[in-house]
Amino acid sequence: MPGTDKKQLDTVLKEARRFKPSKEFRKQAHIGSEAEYRRLYKKSIQNPEKFWAGIASELHWFKQWNQVLDAKKKPFYRWFVGGKTNLSYNCLDRHLDSPTRHKAAIVWEGEPGDRRVLTYGDLHRDVCVFVNGLKKLGIQKGDRVAIYLPMTPELVIAVLACARIGAVHTVIFAGFSAESIRDRVQDCQAKLIITGDGGWRRGKVLPLKDIVDEALSDAPSVASVVVVRRNLDNPLPCHMKDGRDHWYHELIDGMSADCPAEKMDSEDLLFLLYTSGTTGKPKGIIHTTGGYMVFTYLTTKYTFDLKPEDMFWCTADIGWVTGHSYIIYGPLQNGATCLLYEGAPDWPHRGRFWEMIQRYRVNIFYTAPTAIRAFMKWGDEWPNKYDLSSLRLLGTVGEPINPEAWMWYHKTIGHKNCPIVDTWWQTETGGIMITPLPGVTETKPGSATLPFFGVAPAILNDAGKEVNAGYLAITQPWPGMLRGVYGDPERYRQTYWSKWKDIYFPGDGARRDKDGYYWIVGRVDDVVNVAGHRIGTAELESIFVEHPRVAESAVIGVAHELKGQAMVAFVSLRDGNTETDALEQELKDWVVKKIGKFALPDRIVFSGDLPKTRSGKIMRRLLRDVAEGRALGNVTTLADATVVEKLKVQYEED
Ligand code: WT7
Repeated sequence: MPGTDKKQLDTVLKEARRFKPSKEFRKQAHIGSEAEYRRLYKKSIQNPEKFWAGIASELHWFKQWNQVLDAKKKPFYRWFVGGKTNLSYNCLDRHLDSPTRHKAAIVWEGEPGDRRVLTYGDLHRDVCVFVNGLKKLGIQKGDRVAIYLPMTPELVIAVLACARIGAVHTVIFAGFSAESIRDRVQDCQAKLIITGDGGWRRGKVLPLKDIVDEALSDAPSVASVVVVRRNLDNPLPCHMKDGRDHWYHELIDGMSADCPAEKMDSEDLLFLLYTSGTTGKPKGIIHTTGGYMVFTYLTTKYTFDLKPEDMFWCTADIGWVTGHSYIIYGPLQNGATCLLYEGAPDWPHRGRFWEMIQRYRVNIFYTAPTAIRAFMKWGDEWPNKYDLSSLRLLGTVGEPINPEAWMWYHKTIGHKNCPIVDTWWQTETGGIMITPLPGVTETKPGSATLPFFGVAPAILNDAGKEVNAGYLAITQPWPGMLRGVYGDPERYRQTYWSKWKDIYFPGDGARRDKDGYYWIVGRVDDVVNVAGHRIGTAELESIFVEHPRVAESAVIGVAHELKGQAMVAFVSLRDGNTETDALEQELKDWVVKKIGKFALPDRIVFSGDLPKTRSGKIMRRLLRDVAEGRALGNVTTLADATVVEKLKVQYEED
C-alpha cells in the first residue's frame, strides 16, 4: 500500500496493552456498558433512518422533515429532507428558557492573559446584534462570508451570526497567506470578509488586516470588510479603506438585539471549508445544515460524555474542522461550557496549557498527537507543576497517535485516571466516525477502536473485497457527511465515490485486529499530514513549478518525530540557474507567500534530475526511500537508474 509506514505498522501490530474505563467513569457515563453500545450500534446500522430521526427530535425544528434520508441521487445524499431548522438557534435560543441562559458558553483567554466570559445569553445577544449589522451591509441568506480572525470570542460570534442569517461561512485559518485567502475568496465569490486588526501568537501580533488588504487586491466579489479590534483600548495600527471597511464595534453600535433566526432548509449550505486534496488547488468541502447539526450534536455528547457541569477544552483552531464541530457547533448544541484560547501552548512558558487546565478546572481536554509529542519533549516537569486533577477525559485527533505518546498522555496528563478517546474523522466527515466511547470501550494505545453510531466502516482492497489490512471505507451514508465540493460535483464523485460502487473512500489506510478494532495507518494518497495539517503534495509541487527558476519538483512526506510527517521537496532548476543558499531561501519565502509558514517543507533538495519511469512518471516511492535513509527499492522501471543513486549520495552528504 502506498504511504504505509512499515515501522509504525510493526509497532502497532505488537501493541498488547489494554485499558478499561474505571467503574466510577462507567457508572456516570451516558453510555456505560458494552451491551448498550452494541444494542444501539446495531439499531443505528440496521435502521439508520429511525435511529437518526430519534436523535434529531431532541433538537429544534421549525418544520419537521418528511424523509430522513434520500438516496435517489447518490452520492448526492440528502438528510432530513423538507425539514426547516437553524443551527445557531439550536446552539443558542434553545437554551434561553432554561438555567443554561446564565451559564458560561465561552470562557476565553487571550495569549497576553486577558479574559472574557460569555454566557449563553450574552452570546445570543452578541450574535443577534451582529446579524443586524451584517444585514445593514446587505448580507443575505446564501451569500458567502469569509472569516479570517484570531481565536477570540468574535470568531465564534461571526460563525454563529452567519449560521443565523443563513450566510455560508468559510473560515480561513489565520496562518494562511494573502494568496491563499484570495484563492478561497475567488473560488466561493465571497461578498464580505470579517477580519481583525490583529491577534497574538507567541508574543507577536499577526497583522491580519494587512494580509486581507493584500488578498483583496484582486477579489472583486468582496464588497465589504468588517474589522474587529482585538483590544478596544489598545487599537493595533491598520489601514481602513473608505466605503469598504467597517469597524465591528461601530457597525454594531446601537443595533437592535432583535433578530429571529432564518428558517433554513435542512440541505441549505452551512459552511465551506477548504482542504487540500491530491490535485491542484484546495477544494471547498460543502457541509449543509440539518445532518451536520444532528451528527455534531450526538458525537459531542457521547464521545466526550459531555455533562452540563463540564469545562470542555478543545485546543484546535476554529480555522480547521475540529474547531467548527467541537468548539462551536457540537458543544454549544449540548449547552456546554467551552474554554477558548487564543495563542501558543509555549507562551510565555511551556506550562501554559497545564496552567490553564488548573486555572479553569478543565474536565475534558481534546488535542492533537503532534502537540502531545511536543509536550513529551518539553519534559514532565511542566505538567507536574500544576494541578490536573480536574481532568476526567482526554481526547486526540488529527493523525495516528503512536503508542508511546498515548502512554505518556495516559500517565503524565491523565494520571492513569482518564479514558483516552482517539477519534478518527476528517473535514469531509463533519464529525467523529471511529472512536472509543469513554465509559464503554477498552482502549489499546494507537487504535481508534470502534465505529460511532450510524457509521459503517470496512477495510477493502482495490477490488472492493474485505481484507484485514487495506483501505478504510465507509459503506453507508451518515448525516454529517460532506455534500459535495463547491462548484465541482464531478470532483466530489471522482475523489470520494469512484474507487468502489456506492462506498465512500476517505483516503486512509487501516487494519483491523481480531477484536474488530480499527488501527488507522495514515493517508494512502498524495496527502501529507504535517502536525495535523493536511497538505497535498501536488499543491506544493505546483507552487514550486510556478516559480520562474524551477523546472520540476516532487514533494514527499517522510516520518517526523514530532510532526508525525514532514515534507521534503526535491526541486530541479531551469537551465542557467545555480543551486545557492540564497535561492533556497527565495523558494522558502515563495511557499510562505503562496500558502503560509505551516506548509514549509523541512528540506529543499536541489536535484539535477528526478527519478522517472520510462513513461516520465516521477517515482516518489524511491524519493521516500532516499529521504528515509532506506535501501533503494526496485529501480528496474527507471529510465535512468543513476539519477536516484546520485541523489541518495547527495542527500546523505547534505
Ligand atoms: C485526516 C483528516 C479530523 C479533524 C482533524 C484533521 C487523519 C485524523 C485521526 C486519528 C489517525 C487521523 C486521517 C484523516 N486523522 N484523525 N484519530 N487517527 N489518523 O482533519 O485535515 O480533514 O484530516 O487526518 O489521515 O484522513 P483533516
